Amino acid sequence: MKKITACALGLLFCLGMKSQTNMSTFISDLMSKMTLEEKLGQLNQLTGDDINTGAPSQTKIGKELIAGHVGSVLNVQGVEKIRLLQKMAVEESRLGIPLIVGLDVIHGYETLFPIPIGLSCTWDLKAIEESAHIAAVEASANGIAWTFSPMVDISLDPRWGRMAEGNGEDPYLGSRIAEAMIRGYQGDYSGKDNIMACVKHFALYGAAESGRDYNTVDMSRLRMYNQYFAPYKAAVEAGAGSVMTSFNIVDYVPASANRWLMTDVLRNQWNFDGFVVTDYATITEMQKEGWGIGDVKTVSAKCLKAGVDMDMVSQGFISTLGQSLKDGTISMADIDRACRRVLEAKYKLGLFADPYKYCDAKRSKEVTYCKEHRDIARRITAESFVLLRNEGNILPLDKTKKIALIGPMADNKGDIAGTWSFSAKPEKYKSVYEAMKAYVGKKGTILCTQGCNLLDDAHQQQAVSNGHGLTPVPRVDDAEAKAEALRIAKQADVIVCAMGECAWMSGEGTSRADLQIPAPQRRLLEALKELGKPIVLLNFTGRSTVLTWESQNIPAIMNVWFGSECGDALCDVLFGDTSPSGRLTMSMPYSVGQVPIYYNHLQTGRPVADGEPYRVFASNYIDQPNGPLYPFGYGLTYSTFSYSDVSLSSPEMNSNGSVTATVEVKNTGSREASEVVQLYIRDIEASISRPLMELKGFERITLKPGESRKVNFAITPELLKFYNYDLEYVLEPGDFSIMTGPDCKHVSQAILKVNK
Ligand code: NOJ
Repeated sequence: MKKITACALGLLFCLGMKSQTNMSTFISDLMSKMTLEEKLGQLNQLTGDDINTGAPSQTKIGKELIAGHVGSVLNVQGVEKIRLLQKMAVEESRLGIPLIVGLDVIHGYETLFPIPIGLSCTWDLKAIEESAHIAAVEASANGIAWTFSPMVDISLDPRWGRMAEGNGEDPYLGSRIAEAMIRGYQGDYSGKDNIMACVKHFALYGAAESGRDYNTVDMSRLRMYNQYFAPYKAAVEAGAGSVMTSFNIVDYVPASANRWLMTDVLRNQWNFDGFVVTDYATITEMQKEGWGIGDVKTVSAKCLKAGVDMDMVSQGFISTLGQSLKDGTISMADIDRACRRVLEAKYKLGLFADPYKYCDAKRSKEVTYCKEHRDIARRITAESFVLLRNEGNILPLDKTKKIALIGPMADNKGDIAGTWSFSAKPEKYKSVYEAMKAYVGKKGTILCTQGCNLLDDAHQQQAVSNGHGLTPVPRVDDAEAKAEALRIAKQADVIVCAMGECAWMSGEGTSRADLQIPAPQRRLLEALKELGKPIVLLNFTGRSTVLTWESQNIPAIMNVWFGSECGDALCDVLFGDTSPSGRLTMSMPYSVGQVPIYYNHLQTGRPVADGEPYRVFASNYIDQPNGPLYPFGYGLTYSTFSYSDVSLSSPEMNSNGSVTATVEVKNTGSREASEVVQLYIRDIEASISRPLMELKGFERITLKPGESRKVNFAITPELLKFYNYDLEYVLEPGDFSIMTGPDCKHVSQAILKVNK
């Protein structure tokens, strides 16, 4: 009887009356029955790895669940397994409080979209929202109530492998994408297919020194507010239900223990009303072997006090907060506050009303990797590819020709889904080779070979392509593999190289100091180039890589970003059914020496414009330009576009007024194609130094050959504001440069005078 109390009560409360008052009364009532231990249990998240063996109730997690010591579980997969866990929580624990089960569903569940950096390159907010919704539909049908996504950390340093999981370097674009993903995952929480989002990693995780994952971060508050905070804030304002802390320090205090960050900024300034979870084992890592700010008891108390509500797997909260309460370092109110927030999340998701809401095996069969999802993923994946070069219009390819497909990614199913794709089922989708063969059918010929090793170092190759449940990229004998590659290439009309990074060369813990195509692949590319045949490089990657040599030697280059439908989507673009339309969301450097590199940087006192020759005593390099090889916003199509100069509806506006900026764009080529029209603004003179330009709007349009369209952008005060020296959000009247164009390097500008 007692075991169904919480859920039975929840059902009564939830039936048609989802008001805040009902939630609050329900939770107060439930909490009045909870022991301290049970309250701490709600703050404890365990990994479900061990339920893969043995009877669930006999596993560690099963026992803890029944004892009421667990509020959440992560890393369990399979709807039946999750149902068993939920059953133990609901039917065998004293109060029957349901579990919230979380997983990293960051670019789809079984239907895998391009990795997030690739999705961002679509600049298509509708598509991104759709992808998040489909991820939620599949995950929710498989027991998952909570995804650890979106990751909105701005990254200016491609050495950091987690650039793959974010949206690139821009705060404005990153904010819009964060909002779209929250909408896609959460909806209004009412549907069976709405799951809770988790914005991560709060905060500044992408600014790790030297691009080395988990490393120190040191940043001025002005930079936080004007550059790095925007996407987290946008996600919170879009209603994100939870926030995950970051591994790094902020002002020398690990983020999870930083009260200023977790309470003053997140709660008081941004009004966040969801719950905060640490990242994996963060509390453990704050002890002297790691950040060194205290033993587990001290740091657990600090984190709770700072504003953290749930401890991901460290078990610091559950094991020490009771004693800290006795010692008086924390109060019952601190524990109650955190417990209430976790219970509220469960209530909002409807788990008290129906704890098995996400455990519908029938729905799982119907929706997981269904045809409809795959078709949408194929379309969105095709939208994400960024064509960097296409000299002599090598692309699109003629499918009746003989094609040599070469490289470690050519016939590789394990890796094609990309980083963080634990639910991928490689047996269900195609490699690039399989997709190409199916696409050309009897009309053409595809010859294929791996051609080289992924990396020279066998240990490194094993490390990046193993341990993630993937089939490792095979080791090959260099000379033999190269000979075979040359043999098939000689027979072919065109060579397509599927090279670059495998899935886990980007993502967590995958920093790289050298950003070029790995050496063995580069050597093969050089040898293939010597054949003098048309070559296309498909650059598989999760970050900005250095393609300086390739850009001088390989006529066609396209960045591709994984996904279960990547093979089919590549055929759609390579053979010209659709024109490439992705645009870079991060600058691609000439060399790693330019890193960090980003378009929205400040001016210096001794500026040198990109493209000008080297000048001594000025801010530039002797041996390389300041600007990138490929700029933010850049990408080619199979057509061409012309832009008019930007015009303003009025050259002046009041600080509470608005003007319209207009640019006319024409498709001057011979194919239908999509263009991303971009708006940038510069505050020319202000009380603090302001960036040279900042993205403030964009519109993705599709034009037929010869068609033109006027694109309007409303310039509102909001677009002109920034945080001043005192961290006040202000608009300072004066002159602003309003710029439009196809990327950040090719813009026309008009001056707007803003009066008081
Ligand atoms: C660690 C990662 O930093 C985080 O992004 C992820 O959500 C958690 N592990 C859970 O898997």
